[in-house]
Amino acid sequence: MNDWQHGFYKLSPEQRRARLYAARHLSMDDQNVLEERTSTLGDQLVENYLTDYSLPEGVALNLTVNGKEYAVPMVVEEPSVIAAASNGAQRVSRSGGFTAPQQVRALIGQVVIVPEKGRTQENLAWLGDHKDEILQVANAAHPSMQKRGGGAKDMQLRTPGDFISVDLVIDVSQAMGANSVNTMAEAVAHWLTDKGYNVLTAILSNYATHSLQSVECRIDVRYLATPQMSGRQVAERMAQLSELAQVDPYRAATHNKGIMNGIDAVMIASGNDWRAIEAGAHAYAVKDGQYKGLSTWTVDGDYLVGKMTLPLPVGVVGGSIGLNPLTKTNYKVSGIENAEELAAVTASLGLAQNLAAVRALASSGIQAGHMKLQYRSLAVSVGATPEEVPVVTKRLAELDHVDMRVAQEVLAQVRRGE
Ligand code: MEV
Repeated sequence: MNDWQHGFYKLSPEQRRARLYAARHLSMDDQNVLEERTSTLGDQLVENYLTDYSLPEGVALNLTVNGKEYAVPMVVEEPSVIAAASNGAQRVSRSGGFTAPQQVRALIGQVVIVPEKGRTQENLAWLGDHKDEILQVANAAHPSMQKRGGGAKDMQLRTPGDFISVDLVIDVSQAMGANSVNTMAEAVAHWLTDKGYNVLTAILSNYATHSLQSVECRIDVRYLATPQMSGRQVAERMAQLSELAQVDPYRAATHNKGIMNGIDAVMIASGNDWRAIEAGAHAYAVKDGQYKGLSTWTVDGDYLVGKMTLPLPVGVVGGSIGLNPLTKTNYKVSGIENAEELAAVTASLGLAQNLAAVRALASSGIQAGHMKLQYRSLAVSVGATPEEVPVVTKRLAELDHVDMRVAQEVLAQVRRGE
C-alpha cells in the first residue's frame, strides 16, 4: 500500500483531500472542483469520503397512474431521458393513463445450506417440519418489524444444484428492508449452524419475485402519429419492435436499458437502491430461460397496448431515504406516500420511457430527438455560458456534421459576433 493511503479512512475529508492533492499532484482547478460540493452527510454515508458527485435532477410531467396525476423527480445525466419520459407519459395520459394494480410486497432472505452427500431429502423434511421455529428465530432477530405488522411470514425451500436454499419471505412494511432481512437471515443461519447444518451464506436475494409490479396502458393510435407516418403505422412497427425484443437478446438488452433509464432515475431521486432494482429486473427478464424485453406492445383494434411486469422491491423509509433532505423533498414533489404507490408510479414511468424510445425507433429514429439534447451538452462541454448555450445549440442543430471541434468553432463564431 502507498504511504499516503495509510489510515486514509481515519482522516477528516479535508485531510484526505490534502493527501490526495499531494499524491496525485492535482492542480488548483482540480482541487476547487473537489471542494465545490462537500457535505457532512456524504462523510457520514461513505468511507474515504472526498466530495459529493452531483447529477442533474428534473421532473417528469403528465404521468397519470390509476387516475392520479404525478410530477416525478428523476435524477439522471443522459440528456434525453426526462424529456422522453414526459413525452411518453403525456401520450398515455391522453388515453386515460396507466393502470397499475396495488403491489403485494415481500422480500426474500436466502439461507443456503450445503447438505451432506445423500442427505438432501432428509434435510428438506427436517427444515419443513421446523418451519414455525425458523420463522420465530427470524422474527426474534427483529421484533420491531413484527410490532409494525411485518416480519417473516413464510418459508419456502428450493434445491438449486446441490444446495438447499431456505427462502424466508419477509414483509418489511414500507422499508427498503435489506439490512433487516440480512439480520433475520443471519439469525436463522446461526440457529441452523447450531443444529449442525453447514450454512454457506445468509443474505437478501435481489431476485425480488415476491414484490412484482405490473402496469398496463392502452393508447389510441392517433396519439402516436408523426408528420411522416400515421398512428397505426407507428403502432404496428412498435409491436414488431416489441416482438424483436422477445426473440433477440441483443435487442432485448437495449429495450430494457430504455426502461431502466426511467426506473433508475426515479429510484435515485426517491433514495432507493437502484443497483438492487437493476439486478432484479434483469434476472426477471431471463426467467423463461431466454433474456427478453420486460415490456410488450401489441395492437388491439385502434389501440396500442403496453404491458410490463417486473420486481420492484422499493421502499419509502430506510437506507439513506430519511437522511438526505432532497430525497424527502422529492416525495413532497411527487406526492407519493407509500411504497405501493412508489412501485406503481415507477413501473408506469418505466413503461412511459419505453414507449417514447420504441415510438422514436419505429418512426424517425432515436437520433433526431437525442441530438437536439446532445447539442446542448456539447455546447456546455466546450465552455458555452448559460447565455451562449441556446445560440450554440441552435446553430449546431443546423449543421450536417457535429463534433467537439465543430462545437468549439461555432462557439468561437458566436463570441466573434459572426
Ligand atoms: C438510450 O439510452 C435508450 C434506448 O436505446 C432504448 C431503446 O433502444 O429502446 C433509446
